[in-house]
Order: sequence, then structure tokens, then C-alpha cells
Amino acid sequence: QLMGQLLGMKEKEKQLASYLEIEHCVIVSGDVDEQVKLREEIGHATLETLDFLLPEGNNIIAVMGGATMAEVANQMNETLSKKRELIFVPARGGLGESVDIQANSISALMAQKTGGKNRVLYVPEQVSEETYKPLLQEPGIKKTLKLVEDANCVLYGIGDAMHMAERRGMNDEVLALIETKAAVGEAFGEFYNQSGDVVYKIPRIGMQSKDLAHIASVIAVAGGKSKAKAIEAHMKKAPRHTWLITDEGAANEILTGI
Ligand code: G3H
Repeated sequence: QLMGQLLGMKEKEKQLASYLEIEHCVIVSGDVDEQVKLREEIGHATLETLDFLLPEGNNIIAVMGGATMAEVANQMNETLSKKRELIFVPARGGLGESVDIQANSISALMAQKTGGKNRVLYVPEQVSEETYKPLLQEPGIKKTLKLVEDANCVLYGIGDAMHMAERRGMNDEVLALIETKAAVGEAFGEFYNQSGDVVYKIPRIGMQSKDLAHIASVIAVAGGKSKAKAIEAHMKKAPRHTWLITDEGAANEILTGI
């Protein structure tokens, strides 16, 4: 029976990847909305995916923030560094998340867990242009941004639009915009509608979704029925070689809609 379930899941993974028009999906059984502990399994599945995709030798891995990414970091260990040099770098500066789930902290934790290296990107994104522009001339910041540009792998989360805007304490104007423009999801500080078109973005420093096409390994990690719409819309504009690590909660919701 277990064999049957496994085969069933493999079939579902194929079905989902083909529907989303991406390279591959990994589906963990259960729904993280109902069972927070499932994040650990999603994290573990992400680690296995990384171990499968990353080449030997030097790797620059750009990472985003969020609770899902924090658990991915938690699951990491030194096996990932076997035959590999790993440098972790935050793909963006501060998007207004609490410290423990900021890209900077997650990248540092990943380096620590794997015995790899880490670079920081301390550029607050919720400040005016006059404030952050001069920071871009700082040699340390330039160096980190160059690494972000050269990344061969990116690991990121996807969130429900309103949930993310509220969690990051975005102002009323932005909240209203998200509603009037019918944003359903968020990734990389970009809010997008059901067609995957960006309707509002935090227009600052670091990686944006348009950069994904040039990165060898693109891995999105997001689960839970509540993220189904956000995941589906995001994948409409994601490059073909994207991998998605998700759960049954999200997968079933997306697949019942077809
Ligand atoms: O951009 C999306 C968020 O990083 C997702 O955050 O993993 O806490 O749901 P989360």
C-alpha cells in the first residue's frame, strides 16, 4: 500500500509540474497550514533537492527570507558541503521581516550549518531612495551584490499577498493598492496578480524575479492550501527550469482547480 501511495505521489508531482510548466515538483504529504511540523519535512525535501542539483566545486547560493526558508536552514548539515564550496548570500536586503526570518539571518544560519561561507547585505529596503542610494557605493555592499549577481542557485519562498504585506507592516497605501490591483501572491518583494504580473514591488536592491532566468538552479519552497493561488500565479512567469518544493495541501488545491 505504501508503494502505491509513493507511486501516486510521484504521479501527482509529475502532473503538477506539467500543469505549472516547470521542471519538477516535490510534494510532501500533508498540509503545513494544519500541521506546522510539516515545515521540517519540506525543509528536508529542499535539502535533498539541493544535494541533487548543486554541482561539485564552487557554489553561490542566494537565499530569501521567511519562516519556510528558516526551516530549510535548520535542516541543513555538512553533507551538503561534501565536494562543494558553498557561499550563502542574501538575495535581498531587509524587507521588513523580523530578525529571525530575514534573508541575512537565514543565509548566516545556512553557512553555519553546512560549514560554508556567508556574506551579509545590510541594506534596509523600507527607506527613501536618498537614504539607500549612497549605500550602494560602499565596497562591502558592492561585493555582496556582485555575488548575488553571480549566484548559480536561488532558494526562495512564496507568500500570500495580503498576509505578507501585513506581516511586513507595509503602509495603508500599499495595502489598498494590493487590494485594488488584486494581488494574490508575493516573492522577492514583488506583489503579483493572478496572471503573475507584478502590480507593486519594493523597488530596491538585490535580486528580482526577472533575474531568475539566468540562474542555473531555481528552487521555490512554499506549502499549504492558503498559498495555492500565490504559487500558481507565480509559476505563470517563472522560468521553465524552476523546481517547486511544496505539500499536498497546496498541490491538491491547485490541481482541483484544473
Ligand atoms: O516571500 C514570501 C515569504 O518569504 C514566505 O514566507 O515562508 O514565512 O510563509 P513564509
